[in-house]
Amino acid sequence: MIQDLQTTDLSAKIAQKTARIAVVGLGYVGLPLGIEFAKAGFQVLGIEDNPAKAQRVNRGDNYIFEDQGALQGLVEGKKIRASSDYDLLRDVDVIIICVPTPLTKHREPDISYVASVTDHIAKTLRRGQLVVLESTTYPGTTEELVLPHLSSSGLKIGEDFHLAFSPERVDPGNKEFHTGNIPKVIGGVTPKCTELACKLYGQVLDEVHPASSPRVAEMEKLLENIFRSVNIALVNELAILCRKMDIDIWEVVDLASTKPYGFMPFYPGPGLGGHCIPVDPFYLTWKAREYDFATKFIELAGEINANMPAHVVTMIVDALGTQRKSLRGANVLVLGAAYKKDVADVRESPALRIMELLIKRGALVSYNDPLIMEITLGSAEELRSVPVSDFSRYDCVVIATNHSVYDYERVVKDSKLVVDTHNATRSKGSAKVFVL
Ligand SMILES: NC(=O)c1ccc[n+]([C@@H]2O[C@H](COP(=O)([O-])OP(=O)(O)OC[C@H]3O[C@@H](n4cnc5c(N)ncnc54)[C@H](O)[C@@H]3O)[C@@H](O)[C@H]2O)c1
Repeated sequence: MIQDLQTTDLSAKIAQKTARIAVVGLGYVGLPLGIEFAKAGFQVLGIEDNPAKAQRVNRGDNYIFEDQGALQGLVEGKKIRASSDYDLLRDVDVIIICVPTPLTKHREPDISYVASVTDHIAKTLRRGQLVVLESTTYPGTTEELVLPHLSSSGLKIGEDFHLAFSPERVDPGNKEFHTGNIPKVIGGVTPKCTELACKLYGQVLDEVHPASSPRVAEMEKLLENIFRSVNIALVNELAILCRKMDIDIWEVVDLASTKPYGFMPFYPGPGLGGHCIPVDPFYLTWKAREYDFATKFIELAGEINANMPAHVVTMIVDALGTQRKSLRGANVLVLGAAYKKDVADVRESPALRIMELLIKRGALVSYNDPLIMEITLGSAEELRSVPVSDFSRYDCVVIATNHSVYDYERVVKDSKLVVDTHNATRSKGSAKVFVL
């Protein structure tokens, strides 16, 4: 009876938007999500390990995306605030976990961030709270790792507290789809957990889709990312073959895309980057070993995609060769350090890997990225973004990230040689432009 009252209480608070929501981890996922809930009228508390980030949020400084003062207004209206004090979790009704899930140096899941946050939550967990894990992870994490931690508080799942997994699908830099209009999948540990979590997200998002369990929701997120990784690897492999056969892969993909069903275009590129696609599939590879199962597609796609930066360097060597220049001592300008167009994120960026390989082989490397002023390479070498006033100073200009701000016509006109890993120049038949 008491638990029913608690559930009803939370359900009513969600319906009236009086439920207090904590978002743990204010990064690419957590901060936009917190803002979305605050915009909808909920009271939001951000718990962020990095005090400098918490302070920036409290100043209304949105370090994730340009929001024309939206965060500022929400801070001033006392709808959102941030702190590094986990004790404050005691007072909220909902806790959403958005912390990193990287790989260790042995390429195994580093679940330590989720485990540490779960420990903190368990210390203050109280009746009536709903906890949602959003971090991408292997199937089983919610029920095998988070649930036992939380249950150690003595509270009962589905009765005293609720727990669900809801994968994040945000695509930083995407102008059409953002946190508010991306459909959300939600799998609760019990039907009541699913119902409450769906009700919560339904208050701020256009579409929610219940899953029958957290494991199904965890697996569907991995399917999404593995699907991308495998298809990108396929087109990358064909791009390498097409170059050898003197066939334009970009034209091939465009023509294949005229088929109105059964084909979805993927484009070649210098390799995978970001926190998700190069990382998440290996969470499943690791988990599959428990079932004595080898995830061959994931491994093969990983291998092909990981080799793309080396392939780009080979293209640069070939391009320089046409002008009887060697890579050693060549001045190379890399345009773009970010892992993808129009974002300021260098995590796992293939552009950095290309620069490392070039430096290792004796090239004199400069880079420009309007969004990233300095970078540290794996070799601990630090580089600062240079202005792009004179392309003709360089022996070769490499388009590693196809940022929209670049004037590609000018890049082609003024450069001695261009290696274009994104077909950003749309150059066909130019002797000085080498398109992947
Ligand atoms: N970035 C994306 O595009 C994206 C898309 C979908 C899913 N995801 C998944 O979402 C999760 C978060 O990714 P992200 O890109 O937002 O990461 P991020 O690194 O941008 O943000 C994570 C934040 O959590 C903070 N943090 C770390 N440990 C903490 C702790 N113990 N307590 C409180 N805060 C802590 C970090 O300081 C950081 O600000 C990951 O599992 C990722 O795979 C990311």
